[in-house]
Amino acid sequence: MQGLESAMGMIQKGFLRDNPAIMKLGVESLKEKLVSINSFVIEKSVMDGENFDAKQYAQKEVKNITILADKMLQDFEAGDKASARETYDKTLSQCMACHTTIRK
Ligand code: HEC
Repeated sequence: MQGLESAMGMIQKGFLRDNPAIMKLGVESLKEKLVSINSFVIEKSVMDGENFDAKQYAQKEVKNITILADKMLQDFEAGDKASARETYDKTLSQCMACHTTIRK
């Protein structure tokens, strides 16, 4: 998770420096680190014992965040900073939504 946090920080750096190369590094790192979400959410779901498939939810989130990250980079590289910013906010919302749902 700390990897995800620093990847988001790198993306933010890309915005602040107006530098697509930095943002690209952040997006790539984010996508790479997202893979690890699966492994550790599964354990939580076993303990939950609720009628909620945390594993499935996590997989869906990995996919969603990956799509958002790609879109953010595309928009930024195309010069549409406003749209890229909006997508950054959406990405962060996905992080927080899962924390609210799963994290104890
Ligand atoms: C599918 C669920 C899920 C998503 C999506 C998710 N997280 Fe997490 N996150 C967790 C869980 C579960 C923990 C608690 C880990 C623990 O207690 O061991 C956590 C903890 C954290 C922590 C606390 C430090 C740590 O390593 O425990 C940070 C920082 C964090 N997440 C960042 C992020 C960021 C940034 C994103 C989005 C890019 C994100 N997370 C998306 C489930 C998720």
